[in-house]
Amino acid sequence: MKLNKMKKIFGVVFMCLVLSSVASAKGVTVSKLNSPDGALTVTVGVDGGKAWYQVMRGSETVIGRSALGFVLKDGDFKDNFKMGKVTRASLDETWSQPWGEDAQVRNHYNEMKVRLQEKGGHKRQLDVVFRAFNDGVAFRYEFPRQKGLQEFVIMDEATEFALTTDAQAWSIPALTPYYEGIYKREPVSRKGNMSGPVALEVNDGLYMAIMEANLTDFSTMNFSHEGTTLKVDLVPWKNGDRVRVGDTRVSPWRAIIIGSKAADILLSRMALNLNDPCKIDDTSWIKPTKYVGIWWALQKQRWTWSQGERHGATTENTKRYIDFAAHHGLGSVLVEGWNYGWDTDWTKHGDGFSFTKAYPDYDLEGLCRYARERGVRIIAHNETGGAAQNYENQMEDAYKLYESLGINTIKTGYVNSHFYNGELQHSQWGVQHFRKVIETAARYHMMIVNHEGAMPSGLQRTWPNLIATESMRGQEYNAFDRGGGNPPYHECILPFTRGLGGPMDFTPGIFEFSNDAVPGTRPQTTLAHQLAEYIVIYSPGHMAADQIENYEHQPAFKFIEEVPTNWERTLVPQAAMGKYVIYVRQEKGTDNWYIGGVTDDQAREFSLPLDFLTEGESYEAILYEDGPEVDYRNNPYPMTIRRLTVDRATVLNLHLASGGGVAIQILAK
Ligand code: NOJ
Repeated sequence: MKLNKMKKIFGVVFMCLVLSSVASAKGVTVSKLNSPDGALTVTVGVDGGKAWYQVMRGSETVIGRSALGFVLKDGDFKDNFKMGKVTRASLDETWSQPWGEDAQVRNHYNEMKVRLQEKGGHKRQLDVVFRAFNDGVAFRYEFPRQKGLQEFVIMDEATEFALTTDAQAWSIPALTPYYEGIYKREPVSRKGNMSGPVALEVNDGLYMAIMEANLTDFSTMNFSHEGTTLKVDLVPWKNGDRVRVGDTRVSPWRAIIIGSKAADILLSRMALNLNDPCKIDDTSWIKPTKYVGIWWALQKQRWTWSQGERHGATTENTKRYIDFAAHHGLGSVLVEGWNYGWDTDWTKHGDGFSFTKAYPDYDLEGLCRYARERGVRIIAHNETGGAAQNYENQMEDAYKLYESLGINTIKTGYVNSHFYNGELQHSQWGVQHFRKVIETAARYHMMIVNHEGAMPSGLQRTWPNLIATESMRGQEYNAFDRGGGNPPYHECILPFTRGLGGPMDFTPGIFEFSNDAVPGTRPQTTLAHQLAEYIVIYSPGHMAADQIENYEHQPAFKFIEEVPTNWERTLVPQAAMGKYVIYVRQEKGTDNWYIGGVTDDQAREFSLPLDFLTEGESYEAILYEDGPEVDYRNNPYPMTIRRLTVDRATVLNLHLASGGGVAIQILAK
């Protein structure tokens, strides 16, 4: 089928209303839902007034009996229920996205909405909607408007996820500032409170991830646990309220991705499918692109954001970056430190930031013109220092100005765990703020790269102008971390955790590892691993993060010039959580393929059949591999670049050094 024809959305929707298919046994009322392939079964029950759910895969219990419900400010809303009507629906549709890991996404599920009816008091109703996909199950709460449940405050969410064994869990501690923690593997029982997504290795045939999808007007889901049962722990407002429910009458989805191989978790598109369809009518202006920027020299303390002799964002420096981008076909240049507000301790005085007024040595209008004339766009940097209200006050004016100057992307930043009114970034207030930014930006045709920020939850389906988020320990730690930098396994676990929610602005592509400011701190990878990050870590707008002079005369830079950021299709032939990952991605609308593989501190060999290539076609493959004798500790740079003619019958034998990687371009002839 022609690719452009495939863009057409095709779908079949079956909706039917079935009044209660409820079975009853010994005072327990249950209702069951199967995934479309029949492999997963969700059972929902009410027992002694308490509502619960359970998930089975065949005869194996995946999630044991787990509680549902809430504690509200005016009392429990969880243990005096009986089961009311049960309604069912199914959907099988394929939708297309302007950018992503797959151009077409299949959304195939069976749904069951269970009404929980309070037996006494106001006799309030709570609906729980379950969806069973072939790759997992999800549910969310709906709060029908009714007497006794108009505007109300949630003090706790009772939702549990009862694991049946002490599975190995990959997670970061809850409330890690900006989610910039190192994901660690430990049995669940030994964890403290965690942030989602939590990736789980249960047994050789069972891998899971628990996360939320469509985080809208709610507070962020963290987890506490008792033994091996996780429980939702919502981030509070500063007065202790967890969620103030008003017009938004649904919770985010609580999603459990389930696979029999680790790779299945990476290929699940549940998080996207659980978000609403795109709300931007015309997405033709959303064109993410690769970028360079006045950035790495700031991280390495060679330049400053503030004014002075080492000020980075000068007209002269920015012109050099624009010229470089134009010459190498990179679409954008990020400029940090161009605007007033950096000259004090801005993390404490974010109210001093102006988002329209440039420093005297930065010619805002002239540089935007200079860039435009060369086919390059400036990315405006809006660091707020957490003074989110100051940002909201200026947002409209700033975006109007940027649009008039031809700026189409903004990188926002929130270096301060508390917003200036004292609310936490990940509270409901913070979640509302981040959404306001995305929606306002869309009105001015601005793409958003959100640093710090909300934990992504698949929102890019609805708002594809949210092109990337940080909310992880990015490459920048390899400049300033006092502990030496991110561990080599970091990029082997990010796709299984943080990456499940949406694109990561990781800022790959460091070519020069020296560090005067924090000696010894550097990428704990090989150079080939840095190239592989462009494939392994998904973003539609990757940065070439190093200072531009470090790319001059580097043959490996050709890969960064040519690697696409928008894909037709994604495959994962090899993956083990925190150990190694190999992605295969087909460039959108072509028959060109890209492969990226990374490993932890273990050197590894892989045989990779190219059986995804088109039958009867021949291709040129360019392999960027760890050179002989390479290891990330002592000899990270050498790289072998070789060219091969390949076809569908070819099997590539790949060697990845310790901390190493491989990046491969396969071009149709
Ligand atoms: C932290 C961000 O992650 C980084 O990219 C940025 O340069 C600084 N804050 C300053 O905004």
